Amino acid sequence: MFKEKKDRKSNEMVVTPWEVSGTIDYKKLVKKFGTTLLSEKEISALDKYSEGNLHLLLRRGLFFSHRDFDWILKMLEKGVKFSLYTGRGPSGHTHLGHLVPWIFTKWLQDIFDVELYFQMTDDEKFLFSQKLSFQETRDFAYENAKDVMAVGFDPKKTHFIFDSQLTSTMYKIAVEVANRVTFSIAKAVFGFVNESNIGMIFYPSIQAMPCFLPSELKGSNVPILIPAAIDQDPYWRITRDVAPKLGYYKPAAIHCKFFPGLAEGGKMSASEPDSCIFTTDTPNNAKKKVMRSYTGGRATVEEQSELGGEPDKCNIYWYEYYLFEPDDNKVNEMRSNCLAGKLLCGQCKKILAEKVKQFVSDHQEKRSKFTDEMITKMIIKE
Ligand code: TYM
Repeated sequence: MFKEKKDRKSNEMVVTPWEVSGTIDYKKLVKKFGTTLLSEKEISALDKYSEGNLHLLLRRGLFFSHRDFDWILKMLEKGVKFSLYTGRGPSGHTHLGHLVPWIFTKWLQDIFDVELYFQMTDDEKFLFSQKLSFQETRDFAYENAKDVMAVGFDPKKTHFIFDSQLTSTMYKIAVEVANRVTFSIAKAVFGFVNESNIGMIFYPSIQAMPCFLPSELKGSNVPILIPAAIDQDPYWRITRDVAPKLGYYKPAAIHCKFFPGLAEGGKMSASEPDSCIFTTDTPNNAKKKVMRSYTGGRATVEEQSELGGEPDKCNIYWYEYYLFEPDDNKVNEMRSNCLAGKLLCGQCKKILAEKVKQFVSDHQEKRSKFTDEMITKMIIKE
């Protein structure tokens, strides 16, 4: 359905909204995509707004790149508030990687007290997967929405867009966008080919639409900030080209790197359920997955003591570093003890496994408070 994978070198970096593979060099990716690394200036502005409580995901560099985030900050200085926009393609249950941008988005909603528009692309996953029925993706959209709300968003300021329930305003915006994007641009950005179905070709205008919806609903231009992993950036490229033609602001974006899976090299694969933690795993199963994870450990205890471990290759270390260990001293200690061969992988796994078990159990408790009816009430209907 896309350009062929022919002639790819085995570890070639591929980052598209549908495929992330190879060894990712984020500096190269930023250059290739034309985005900008977050600078000290933007980070210290966020530090100030959060009164010194900079989020771990930012402090430790998982969020690392942006488009026009400096402009969002300038507008704030002028007293112009932005709205947040993010989303999910409901192709299955939610995993820890999906939660990462949502956790960060919630932090932004708390600090700036702003509205969030959350898109559930049940159409996208039906059109692109070719394996799931439209009913299945629509059902997953409700399940995933409960995970979104379990992250703790303010229900009064959070609005869902379910693509299978588009309103006339949403459709009007999508058609205006589609009218300004040629097939040759869509092909160049997304790699569509003759075999791509025509729904796929129209779809990018649907993902662009929420960037302009708040302005339409309010009747005046609203700056938009999109927190997401960098795989979604191709969408914002075409949306930003179209925005001035329609009289809207260009959406700004803040990008994260990919939170690793549990397989070797931090890989996460939908066909390997053990390679990531799902929010629907039983807490005990989540714990077992951590215990089975790939680490940067040596072949034997003797070698580990002699040569030391390799934290940079270790999924356990990155889980602690990015999400599960907020204390800088503890995480530094873990790193230096590992490098010095004073720590065995089993010890680290045990500590993280307990944290992940607790995290999944807490998340499920929060998730269970949301019903389909509650989600339905939060879907924009006009
Ligand atoms: P989807 O469902 O593939 O992913 C949902 C969100 O999770 C991010 N993500 C990750 N972030 C960190 N580490 C990972 N390992 C990881 N895997 C996925 C994605 O970047 C995304 O933010 N087409 C979109 C749905 C969508 C959307 C949006 C996403 C519609 N509008 C606006 C972001 C912003 C999709 O299929 O996302």
